[in-house]
Amino acid sequence: MDCVSILAHPPVQRHGARRSFSLCITIRSTNMPSPLHLRKRLFAWMMSGGSEGCADDTLSAQYKRRLFADLHGDVIEIGPGGGANLAYLKGRDVRWIGIEPNPYMHPHLKAEAARLGLNPELRSGVAEHIDAPDASADGVICTHVLCSVSDQAAVLREALRVLRPGGRFVFVEHVAAHGGALRTAQNLIAPAWRIIGDGCHPNRETWVALQNAGFERLEIEHYRVDAPIFGPHIAGVGRKEI
Ligand SMILES: C[S@@+](CC[C@H](N)C(=O)[O-])C[C@H]1O[C@@H](n2cnc3c(N)ncnc32)[C@H](O)[C@@H]1O
Repeated sequence: MDCVSILAHPPVQRHGARRSFSLCITIRSTNMPSPLHLRKRLFAWMMSGGSEGCADDTLSAQYKRRLFADLHGDVIEIGPGGGANLAYLKGRDVRWIGIEPNPYMHPHLKAEAARLGLNPELRSGVAEHIDAPDASADGVICTHVLCSVSDQAAVLREALRVLRPGGRFVFVEHVAAHGGALRTAQNLIAPAWRIIGDGCHPNRETWVALQNAGFERLEIEHYRVDAPIFGPHIAGVGRKEI
């Protein structure tokens, strides 16, 4: 059911009785999209256009080129959105599976894949329960997703579960500032931004979740892009024990 409507029926006049009011509540389904669906659709539109639509900043693009260069074989991308990372994988020896929960992203991703001449496998679902067997992936890609997931620890557990021994979890994420006025601003804007940005938190200390996830080797680089609120970033790779 997309929407409920409440109808107030006119009061019933009983003979000789004092006028009484009755309220009849009818719940009915309509095809009108709910605000949540509208937000998801709008967010998908904002993220469309591949790496250009995602406004990949120059620094993050450099990190992606470097980190994705070592990927090969079966690669699962969680939260691929409109397919911003597909262009980086074109021509590589990669069998790509995307796990994207927002259905309104799917047409944008498919359009980007068609533009690049790719035919990737796209699945619905969330990264907290990745729809893939244990030890079935050589790599997991995660860019600007850990800011939005409902349970970072569960997502990282799942990434480790689906990775083969020696497999790589590559990430690029915007994160919390370490303190100061920027962190205060991130904290203040967070409640509103969760609504506008489809669940995105500007103030997550994602590097802590990565350090606690249980990767055998973890390389994290902190860098800053030229953006208000979302400037602080991390990028790197976690390797699963062989
Ligand atoms: C800011 S967009 C980033 C999209 C893409 N990774 C990129 O770098 O352009 C966040 C993406 O994460 C997805 N997402 C949110 N929660 C998720 C979850 N629990 N599991 C998997 N994907 C999720 C959203 O639907 C959206 O596509």
